[in-house]
Amino acid sequence: MIPRVSGTPVLGNLGELRRDWLGLLTRVAAECGDVGSFRVGPRVGVVINHPALAGELLVRHAEHLEKGPLLTRLARLYMGDGLITCPQAGHAEARAHLAPAFTPRAIARALPGIQACVDAAVEALEPGSTIDVHAWLTRLAIAIVGRALVGEDLDAPALERAATDALRDINHRIRHPLAAPPWWPGRRRRQARATNRTLDALVDAVLARRRAEAASSRDDAVATLLAAPFDDRAIRDHLVTLVLAGFETAASHLAWTLALLATRPDVEADFLQEIRRLPAQPSVDDLDALPRTARILEESLRLYPPAHTLGRKTRSPLTLGPYALPAGTVALVSPWLLHRRADVFADPERFEPERFAAPLPRYATMPFGAGPRVCLGARFATLEARTVLVALARRVRLVPVTPGLPPAETLMTLRPVGFLARVEAAG
Ligand code: HEM
Repeated sequence: MIPRVSGTPVLGNLGELRRDWLGLLTRVAAECGDVGSFRVGPRVGVVINHPALAGELLVRHAEHLEKGPLLTRLARLYMGDGLITCPQAGHAEARAHLAPAFTPRAIARALPGIQACVDAAVEALEPGSTIDVHAWLTRLAIAIVGRALVGEDLDAPALERAATDALRDINHRIRHPLAAPPWWPGRRRRQARATNRTLDALVDAVLARRRAEAASSRDDAVATLLAAPFDDRAIRDHLVTLVLAGFETAASHLAWTLALLATRPDVEADFLQEIRRLPAQPSVDDLDALPRTARILEESLRLYPPAHTLGRKTRSPLTLGPYALPAGTVALVSPWLLHRRADVFADPERFEPERFAAPLPRYATMPFGAGPRVCLGARFATLEARTVLVALARRVRLVPVTPGLPPAETLMTLRPVGFLARVEAAG
């Protein structure tokens, strides 16, 4: 029997879910232990909060799972059957077609383009000005995705607005699970359609330009998609997915890293020391040879994993350790929760990158997920983060206007809210 936290008679834990999703997960773990559950009206969510059991679910039982209702019902409104949201049945094949765009070689080829975007954005920062760090990083991450995956400069403001609208809509629907469904006529449906029209138009324009090119010698993600046996709809869904998945998470990750670094001058000093000897345009090998920087980013992903909750639905009954999960169970693995287990991480709330110098139990951290649906862009995101941190540190210091960490907003991703910083020239 899976234990369940208390809730109100009819709505169960809906109020808590709306107010404070991470707080609800924390209470489930505190009161129920490794596996516990909560209820929203008639629906039950089972939270798997043990590294080995989470690994067993996502890796060993992967074939018996679909993505959770959130992704299949809500993110699909915008991402269609892209790689993140597509059913398990066609997933392996679709992933195999997309994978060539994410090999280490393909990413190494994209590095100079990423560096050019980052350098241009950093040079445009004016010492003495104040910026919203997350908003600035979002624009930069869009530019990077455009250059590296699509091979051109995307319409950043339109895309940023469409992506933010999509994420806000999804978030609203998460908070109001018993409200009108997405197909219900009204303002929300109109807004969702307008957002999708913007996304469609951006993709259509990219594809039209690309198809008009004579024998293309390009080898980016669009070229990979066009070479695969996908119809136009599938190409649209995969491209929107790559773009949305590729910037929102990366921007949040970097913003949290900068916020965390600002709280630990000693860690920041170690980082500055490590990057001192890097050449002007670091190669992939240079960026890979930065162990302290790597640990800073890992620790940031531990404390603030942008993908804070991964949802699955069981297609058939399965056994997880001592627990039986019937078919149709909604099972949730929360990196945010797993990464705070006090038996794995001493003083778990503390930002302590050097804890990653020692080996950790398997699946103790999984900011990029695990199993066949693990993040396809993990390597890309890692190199991008290192490039941005290095370029920023060389030219400027971002000094938070308000000391301490900014509050977190739990949309589809975990973002910092109102993180303002003053730009100072690097000393
Ligand atoms: C710090 C940055 C990132 C984080 C934390 C992150 C996290 C994740 C996670 C946790 C998943 C698995 C979701 C699940 O199991 O339900 C995922 C999937 C995915 N991510 Fe990322 N991601 C990041 C950056 C990127 C980038 C830059 C790209 C592309 C350019 C990308 C593309 C994808 C794709 C295509 C999938 C679906 C993989 C599949 O189902 O086969 N991600 N990401």
